[in-house]
Amino acid sequence: MKPYEVLLRENKQWAADKIEADPDFFNRLSTLQTPEFLWIGCSDSRVPANEITNTQPGEIFVHRNIANLVIHTDVNLLSVLDYAVVHLKVKHVIVCGHYGCGGIKAAMSNNNYSQVLNMWLRNIKDVYRHNREELDTISDEKLRADRLTELSVVEQVQRLAKTSIIQKAWKQRNAPDLHGWVYGLKDGLINPVYEMKANADIDPLYIYDDL
Ligand code: CO
Repeated sequence: MKPYEVLLRENKQWAADKIEADPDFFNRLSTLQTPEFLWIGCSDSRVPANEITNTQPGEIFVHRNIANLVIHTDVNLLSVLDYAVVHLKVKHVIVCGHYGCGGIKAAMSNNNYSQVLNMWLRNIKDVYRHNREELDTISDEKLRADRLTELSVVEQVQRLAKTSIIQKAWKQRNAPDLHGWVYGLKDGLINPVYEMKANADIDPLYIYDDL
């Protein structure tokens, strides 16, 4: 049996198990999804949103990219954010990074990756530069990467608050709250490092007045 055929076999077993535990499971989900959460996570295979939060299909709307970045020109991310916030009306948006992130390590190195990866990782280098004073005091490279991971998550959450999508939702329905979390590959635990409740203060320069 080829590796991908194992996936298909396991899928059949999974579907059967689900129906056995809850005969209406697929009927219910096929007609409606009402997730309370949007998850913006790293593409890393070791950080599956549903599994580490013990949630089921239907509970979390998910976007993942390398190092869980919020880039204001990323049509993919903005489409997901718009749909989740405006149409699904999620109550929480979670940016979840993880310690030991390859994207963070790569951004801290001087390696020349492909042009497109260089472009992507440069966003993390900018976070480093904005926090150089604090980061340069940490001599242990691993601890420095861990701290950069936390600081990056804070930056990504703040970027969410700079979008008109979030600001409009805050004005209209006082939601969603924004959360910055970091997951530990070594212990499986999530460290909540930052939070912006709906209508939290943001730099006035970024506030839109005609929402
Ligand atoms: Co990662």
